[in-house]
Amino acid sequence: MSSSTDCLQRNHNFARIPVEEETPFIVLYTEKLKDNCRRFRHAFPGAKIYFAVKANNHPAVIQILRDENINFDVASWGEIYLLLQQGICQERIAFNAPSKIPREIKKAFLAGVDTFTFDSTMELEKLAALAPGSKFLVRIAVDNLGSFYPLDQKFGMGLEEALNSFRYAKELGLIPYGVTFHVGSQNSDPQAWVRAIEKVAALREGLASEGIELKVVDIGGGYPVCYREKVPEIEEIAAQVNSAVETLLGGDIELWLEPGRALVSNTAMLVTSVINRAQRGENEWLYVDAGVFHGLIEAWDSIGFEFQICTEKEQDSKKRFVLAGPTCDSGDVIGRNLSLPDSLTLDDRLYILSAGAYTNSLEFYNGIPFPRVILAPADAAQLSTNYRPEEIEK
Ligand SMILES: Cc1ncc(COP(=O)(O)O)c(C=O)c1O
Repeated sequence: MSSSTDCLQRNHNFARIPVEEETPFIVLYTEKLKDNCRRFRHAFPGAKIYFAVKANNHPAVIQILRDENINFDVASWGEIYLLLQQGICQERIAFNAPSKIPREIKKAFLAGVDTFTFDSTMELEKLAALAPGSKFLVRIAVDNLGSFYPLDQKFGMGLEEALNSFRYAKELGLIPYGVTFHVGSQNSDPQAWVRAIEKVAALREGLASEGIELKVVDIGGGYPVCYREKVPEIEEIAAQVNSAVETLLGGDIELWLEPGRALVSNTAMLVTSVINRAQRGENEWLYVDAGVFHGLIEAWDSIGFEFQICTEKEQDSKKRFVLAGPTCDSGDVIGRNLSLPDSLTLDDRLYILSAGAYTNSLEFYNGIPFPRVILAPADAAQLSTNYRPEEIEK
């Protein structure tokens, strides 16, 4: 165990891993989470931090963040419900998903959530109808250069469109509150935030000329974490962001952040075991008991995050493996050219580091339940003596 422990301590300073627990499991290190909160608060003094619940919705994570005075950015009623269950008050919740399910807007509004984001005319009309008189943030499009996982195709309004939307939303009785953006997840270029803040400054000028005041600039998420490559520290990003906010927007605007990955990634480790090993042509394959469908979707080819992996055989000679999950799906591959100990065999453990973001939360991702299965009415009639839909859903 010593080399693995060294490896883990060197990279994450993690103390203990339960040896008796059956794999796969994710170990959460709550002190690390508290440290991350403190670092963010210290780097952005006076800012309001909204944790993006989609990154990790475990109740223990939510409780710690609640007690650390962190607020919450949510994507659905499901996430709001989780937060209310943990005693978090509505004022600490912002419903910032740009495309919300209509009935969920209404539920959120009736529950007392009063801050919403939109990035389209249809969404703003939905808000005016279902959450009348609420405060709103407009999400603008910004370049996602420097991001490993860009979001700029799917989200955000141009500045002209945003300006028109502020006018229209105000006419419909919503309350202009702020502007938000996302520079793309895992963004290693601090200037990405600065360029986006420049856009906010231009929009703010246009709004001011119409008597609309911006109370908040919400600079979103995207703060990078170290998987295998070194990335800028949060303090480095903060220095450039704080200075841009000061010079481009002045002091009289509230700064909000929505970190997801950076608050939770290094707080957890996914522990898996080898369940099979086989030579397939030129490649040697190693199969473990958790893969892209069970927590590691970000390792999937078309996303491509490269997690750091430790074993208890670090001193042994290495060879290249294709590392795969347990499912019967050929896409369930965690990495295609990974250097791992040649001696790895059945039941050996693999420790997947920095597995606290977008892993366990995929079970109820964005707080949106999986589609139910119902039987078409005619089929239900035929099967009614043997089968009931509720049984199929189990
Ligand atoms: C609206 C919003 N805010 C914040 C985040 C968190 O981003 P990250 O995990 O890159 O910090 C996301 C992620 O998709 C998001 O959609």
